[in-house]
Amino acid sequence: MIAIITGASSGLGAEFARQLDREHLSELWLVARDEVALKGVADSLKTPSRIIICDLSIESEIESKIGTALESAKPTVKFCVNNAGFGKIGPLHLLKREDMTAMIDVNCRAVVQLSHMVIPFMKEGSCLIHTSSAASFAPLGGFAVYAATKAFVTSFSVAIQAELVEKGIHSIAVCPGPIETDFSRRAHQGSVRSDSVMKKKADAEPVIRKAIADAKKKKSVSLYGIKFNLMPLLAKFIPQRILAEISYRQVMNTQKR
Ligand SMILES: NC(=O)c1ccc[n+]([C@@H]2O[C@H](COP(=O)([O-])OP(=O)(O)OC[C@H]3O[C@@H](n4cnc5c(N)ncnc54)[C@H](OP(=O)(O)O)[C@@H]3O)[C@@H](O)[C@H]2O)c1
Repeated sequence: MIAIITGASSGLGAEFARQLDREHLSELWLVARDEVALKGVADSLKTPSRIIICDLSIESEIESKIGTALESAKPTVKFCVNNAGFGKIGPLHLLKREDMTAMIDVNCRAVVQLSHMVIPFMKEGSCLIHTSSAASFAPLGGFAVYAATKAFVTSFSVAIQAELVEKGIHSIAVCPGPIETDFSRRAHQGSVRSDSVMKKKADAEPVIRKAIADAKKKKSVSLYGIKFNLMPLLAKFIPQRILAEISYRQVMNTQKR
């Protein structure tokens, strides 16, 4: 039985790899673009690992690299962690169009493509883990495309959970707030300091520990921290337009500093 983890070269994906290393799996398949970083993660694991260099923004690479490996090894996939993703902070008109479309490709299309690809290799007790975000609960001005991609991920994950129940396969959306990883550095573009937009950050280790525990308890959504536990509730009562405006003001205030 194997686990496939996308975005395993850094941050939350590398943490998923370290924690799934304790699950007595036969292999961990680590997917990302940075070969050196993936090798570093693989070297730190006890479980044998397979490094798959794949740009998830390119549909044909997912087919030729992950699809081909699955067809030839025919493993049982115990966990598939759709974790790779990125965000770009700033108002839409100031961001690069190619970054926006790549964000949709990696955060949404690749998630659907890989989930569809692995389900035939899953059996009762298998689990799809989707790294979504607390940003999935509301439209966020200044982070519009990213929040919309994560709304897609949470909705998709919860919906397929209902479809997969009869197969005994679970699907969970992990929806944390800001965490200490490379995410902020990659989100930074132009004059908006994403570091200061997302000030207080959690450590990856407890967030992922809770995500795996919640997956085993068959929860639909994994939340971490008191503030972010309230997010789905707040998003129900505060009008979406207000939430989007508050978020946009926060991003732009940070830009002026
Ligand atoms: N950190 C946070 O505050 C936070 C909060 C909520 C949710 N999240 C979500 O958590 C997930 C992981 O992010 P992180 O915080 O761990 O950030 P990170 O350290 O920047 O890691 C992002 C991972 O995604 C991979 N990736 C990005 N574009 C890719 C592409 N085109 N093809 C293949 N892999 C790609 C990167 O690998 P390569 O560059 O090697 O390809 C890297 O391994 C993301 O989905 C993010 O949206 C993060």
